[in-house]
Amino acid sequence: MLRSDTCGELRAKDVGKSVTLAGWVHRRRDHGGLIFIDLRDRWGLVQVVVDPSASEEGHQVASQVRNEYVLKVTGEVRRRPADQENPEMGTGEIEIVGHSIEILNEARTPPFPINEEALAEEALRLRYRYLDLRRPDLQRRLILRHRVVSFIRSFLEERGFLEVETPILIKSTPEGARDYLVPSRIHPGHFYALPQSPQQLKQLLMVAGIDRYYQIARCFRDEDQRADRQPEFTQLDIEMSFVEQDDVLQLTEELFTALVEEVSTKRLLFKPFPRLSYQEAMDTYGSDKPDLRFQMPLVDLSDLVADSGFRVFSSTVADGGQVKGIRAPGCADYSRKQVDELGEFAQRHGARGLVSIAVTKEGVRSSVAKHLSPDALDAIIERMDAEAGDLVLIVAGPPAVVAESLGQLRLEMGDRLGLRDKDELAFVWVVDMPLFEWKEQENRWDAMHHPFTAPAEEDLPLLDTDPGAARAQQYDLVCNDVEVGGGSIRIHRRDTQEKIFGIMGLPLGQIRSQFGHLLEAFEYGTPPHGGIAPGIDRLVMILAGEESIREVMAFPKTGAAADLMFDAPSPVSDEQLRELHLRLDLGEE
Ligand code: AMO
Repeated sequence: MLRSDTCGELRAKDVGKSVTLAGWVHRRRDHGGLIFIDLRDRWGLVQVVVDPSASEEGHQVASQVRNEYVLKVTGEVRRRPADQENPEMGTGEIEIVGHSIEILNEARTPPFPINEEALAEEALRLRYRYLDLRRPDLQRRLILRHRVVSFIRSFLEERGFLEVETPILIKSTPEGARDYLVPSRIHPGHFYALPQSPQQLKQLLMVAGIDRYYQIARCFRDEDQRADRQPEFTQLDIEMSFVEQDDVLQLTEELFTALVEEVSTKRLLFKPFPRLSYQEAMDTYGSDKPDLRFQMPLVDLSDLVADSGFRVFSSTVADGGQVKGIRAPGCADYSRKQVDELGEFAQRHGARGLVSIAVTKEGVRSSVAKHLSPDALDAIIERMDAEAGDLVLIVAGPPAVVAESLGQLRLEMGDRLGLRDKDELAFVWVVDMPLFEWKEQENRWDAMHHPFTAPAEEDLPLLDTDPGAARAQQYDLVCNDVEVGGGSIRIHRRDTQEKIFGIMGLPLGQIRSQFGHLLEAFEYGTPPHGGIAPGIDRLVMILAGEESIREVMAFPKTGAAADLMFDAPSPVSDEQLRELHLRLDLGEE
């Protein structure tokens, strides 16, 4: 070994010990005579002091080193003088008196400082990710991620789950995104698809009698990127046989509760996790992934204003739309400019406009005071439970527009009022989703989750009469405005599965070629089964208090799905294309 100890572990009890350490120069300070070097490794930082009177040669070397040089330091642990202790550092009570210093490797000046908190531009960080990952913050996040996965593995293993690896080169498994395709050399003109998730494979493992399966599974989806989406990401993929919805929810809830308590200092706001129906979530919070760290519900005012003199409100209701409001406590003194800003915010999220009512001790101030009678205003204020000091914000429009714009405004006000505390975790289940959603452009029903989701037992008759009204045995796990995971009880009978494909308008030929293997498997004794797949990246992002999953992945891609370090994707040679029987047609690009 090139070292006797790591940089982060030495304490006062080690005073007097001779040690050899190795690591990177985090910072160097030359005080004329003495040179101080903070030496860093994954375990932490330690201060090395090099005194020319103690080691002329060591001092010579120390005066040449620069940030990020790799050193081997031999010396003795000494207690720091009381006034020089550093409580911010784990090793802050001691320092190493360096006797000999060896430069194991030099380093160019890094493109951004590694020893400062200020973040460089993200493109630069991704281009030099191996340097970015040296930063203690990122290392802490990778360690957290490791602990999360390690906890999950032991939790599930104790409960009889078997980890099974499933293939990456497979056939398209629809999860609603585009597939990444891999051309086959051996089968000209044929392609593998990378799995959007191991969905069909885990169901086939249930047919195989594995009974309780899990996998830390890599998934691939070619979709537009967002802060919480990457082209490849990791799921905790779970499937169980002979279970009902409650069993899956209970297991997941136990896992997440125990996990948070083990790896995080954040406060779990709810034990057990509340369950909201999809409809309740949309009605009350305007979102299918509501942030329940705070309330501020969307209150329906439609009936109150249907016959008001204000045409914007009455005509919206007459056209089947809604008028809804939220109450922002303590915001009655918002200036005209601030209220206008909120109006612009609501418009960016689809609203035609925003009506405000400020309730003050002196009376009511409203942008629509001249259109609404005092009685109508009073009725609204009463319905909103508004008191002096509150600002009521109202949007009118089609239900989907009201939900989106007012739901987003609710989050914005939550931010402004400091109600979205990063140290709190509000897990909630959203259940009773619709089985299908209508695809306007394609003029057909599509599965809201995926086509393998079982309808609610009592809604089976609706499949023939009113598929849009059928609910699914589906559940989403939501935390702080993030969809952490989704799952469902599956269809395990061929006839029901074929019926669902039929309602989705899939031609028989396509059903056979795309899903024939699954339908056939269902004829060989398939147990009732169900499962869930929480996203590991999103989960760790929340636990780390980060805004983007890129911050908790070692080597993420950019918003344009590129790897800036490898410069991928990249062109390939003509020879490779020929072998794969491919010819490029890039048109005018
Ligand atoms: P679903 O498509 O809802 O379900 O995905 C489950 C969870 O995976 C995470 N996730 C993502 N994370 C990062 N980047 C992405 N592009 C991305 N897409 C999804 C989310 C999401 O909640 N097979 C089903 C699960 C099941 O039914 O058991 C599935 O994949 O956290």
